Amino acid sequence: MQPAADTWRCDGSLHPKQTTHPFDVARQGYVNLLPVQQKKSKAPGDSQASIEARKRFLNAGHYQPLRALICQKMAELLAKNALPSKQTSTSVNWLDIGCGEGYYTQAMAQTGMDALIAADISKPAIVELAKASKAKNSLWYQKKPASDSKSGASSKTVLIYPLVTSAAHLPLRAHSVTGISSIFSPILPDAFNEVLGDEGYLIIAKPDIGHLATMREALFDSVREHDSDKFLQELAPYFTLLTTYKIRTELKLTADDLSDLLTMTPYAYRARSEKRQALLASVATDTFATEAKFVVYVLQKTPVAQPAAL
Ligand SMILES: C[S@@+](CC[C@H](N)C(=O)[O-])C[C@H]1O[C@@H](n2cnc3c(N)ncnc32)[C@H](O)[C@@H]1O
Repeated sequence: MQPAADTWRCDGSLHPKQTTHPFDVARQGYVNLLPVQQKKSKAPGDSQASIEARKRFLNAGHYQPLRALICQKMAELLAKNALPSKQTSTSVNWLDIGCGEGYYTQAMAQTGMDALIAADISKPAIVELAKASKAKNSLWYQKKPASDSKSGASSKTVLIYPLVTSAAHLPLRAHSVTGISSIFSPILPDAFNEVLGDEGYLIIAKPDIGHLATMREALFDSVREHDSDKFLQELAPYFTLLTTYKIRTELKLTADDLSDLLTMTPYAYRARSEKRQALLASVATDTFATEAKFVVYVLQKTPVAQPAAL
């Protein structure tokens, strides 16, 4: 893929028939790399309404402690002495998969990477992210990579690449990224293993047991707990779990906050409409108290054992 300001062009070298293809750069600065045949629906991923609700809810700061924790851990990993010893590229490339409208992604950009690939299957999400990145002058064609990073991670110039793409078909060269984050987003062990460099990092955030318990009790007759750890077994062939962090935050939500939270989570369509209405009516005059509980997992790609020399 050869990126240019108006059109990206794949050179066909990886296509069985050497077919080349142009991908136009949208005026907001993103590139849609999702071919029609990979779309399982007309508008895959999160909808415009859910993106807007999430943007309002997150920008109100309710999950700020989680964002701070993720970025602090990421900055520690990207500090020079913690970078993978086998990193072949001189630049630090990070992939945020299922980035949504970019509440976490924009903060990640400040943690000391050179390029941040912000990827989501939802076009409305990527449009929002691209617009915000463009306003900050951080899009891939707006800046030149910094040649001097001696002054520290926070002063690095990061290039953000907003891409509409599926996690299952990442348009990235094998072993080309230093780290991947999946914040409440899909986890695809094979695809992640393919694009991640040796000893590369994987940061995952998930809801913990008891997340938004009072809200779920009000919405459902019986509450099924989040199965937080199952995905770790699927990652085990490729990744080693380094650390796990738990974080909890008390929330006092207005009716508008609660309505946005319902719209941005799967609870919106799983709950019965009358339960949902009753919950919203109950907070018309008071705030609703609940607790957000998260787990952040930091993993590292396990080195492949080399056959012993004869
Ligand atoms: C719960 S949201 C999380 C968004 C963001 N990381 C955040 O926490 O604010 C999950 C995101 O994953 C995206 N998504 C779902 N399936 C995907 C796939 N196969 N490939 C890429 N993104 C996907 C959705 O469009 C949505 O934006």
